[in-house]
Amino acid sequence: MIKKQLLGVLIAAAVAAPALAADQSVEVLHWWTSGGEAAALNVLKGNLEKEGIKWNDMPVAGGGGEAAMTAVRARVTAGNPPTAVQMLGFDIQDWAKQGVLADLNAVAAREGWDKSVPAALQRFSKYNGKWIAAPVNVHSTNWVWANKAVLDKVGIKNPPASFDEFIADGEAVQKAGFIAIAHGGQPWQEATVFDSIVLTTGGIDFYKKALVDLDPKALGSPTMEKVFHRMGQIRKLVDKDFSGRDWNVASGMVISGKAAFQIMGDWAKGEFINAKKVPGKDFLCFRFPGTQGMVSFNSDQFAMFKVGADKVAAQDKLASAILDPGFQSAFNVVKGSVPARTDVPDTAFDACGKKGIKDLAEASKAGTLVGSMAHGHAEPASIKNAFYDVITRHFNGQIDDRKAVQEMVAAGSN
Ligand code: GAL
Repeated sequence: MIKKQLLGVLIAAAVAAPALAADQSVEVLHWWTSGGEAAALNVLKGNLEKEGIKWNDMPVAGGGGEAAMTAVRARVTAGNPPTAVQMLGFDIQDWAKQGVLADLNAVAAREGWDKSVPAALQRFSKYNGKWIAAPVNVHSTNWVWANKAVLDKVGIKNPPASFDEFIADGEAVQKAGFIAIAHGGQPWQEATVFDSIVLTTGGIDFYKKALVDLDPKALGSPTMEKVFHRMGQIRKLVDKDFSGRDWNVASGMVISGKAAFQIMGDWAKGEFINAKKVPGKDFLCFRFPGTQGMVSFNSDQFAMFKVGADKVAAQDKLASAILDPGFQSAFNVVKGSVPARTDVPDTAFDACGKKGIKDLAEASKAGTLVGSMAHGHAEPASIKNAFYDVITRHFNGQIDDRKAVQEMVAAGSN
């Protein structure tokens, strides 16, 4: 009798085994810890949970993702990679080269990613013909965010149209007793400002020559010296407590009316929206003065790591949820970015989002779309980090314009 019962238990366990074997959970490593970022990520978590997939969160704070990338290295070296990792541009390709990323071609083919994801993103999401990452958005770095009430008080009626106008407006803001530019003194934030100043000073061709082709002539040119001179002009419009400040704290200074402007990618909009602020009424978004018609982009993608067979089904579900058109709309409305697919309508987006979608399409057609240096879409991390170092030391007054230019040439040939 007891034997019979035991047999029954064993049979039941064997029948249940395949279902138990499939791991219906994903572990996701990311750096989305600010209010706006977390709100956006919740859209994805919620959608997956509806499909019965458990989300194991692995946040590594630090804008721009440097700390997150260190954490990924440790996990992969230990032979225990997460299911998916938020990643930017060249970093994805670097991991693909190591042979540790999954092959998403089956999901991609089933869902037609080749047709719906723009080529500028596919260049990073595919390696040797294989989809290895799922793009969730397109951000761009050449934006300014402004507090409308502060501008009204100072008497600034229109967003500045040129770099010199921007500086003049900043000085007027300071005279009126406000902080002109809310800035966080971290290398990636200084590099984000630098993206815009290279564009406004040298134009698209110069940006490409210097930051994408790493042409020593462009890196060592008088135009580059002017770029550093202008970084110095921006520095004068920043308050004395900028050092080490997080980017979302700087956004908060514009939101609260302490400061007039923030030069930041459109993830800043996520903070304004999260604080229930309305574009056009409470805040303004405009392209960095003199970069109208140009877009320096970065795309957050979830690089999928090779995981055990029991985890592949959940990983595929995650990839498929990320590219879902409805999700791409809902997520990017909250995040401040624009969809990573060209077939998502702009209906649900606010004025800044609609402008972002339109600007991206137009720049892509006109050849004025470039990868952001600051956010890993112009060159590999080794060179990007060498540029960061020069830009930050210059911003902190450790080297002058001349020396910075010389060091950029050296950094570009690393
Ligand atoms: C960027 C990323 C954005 C945003 C920002 C600040 O690199 O693409 O999604 O998170 O960092 O954390």
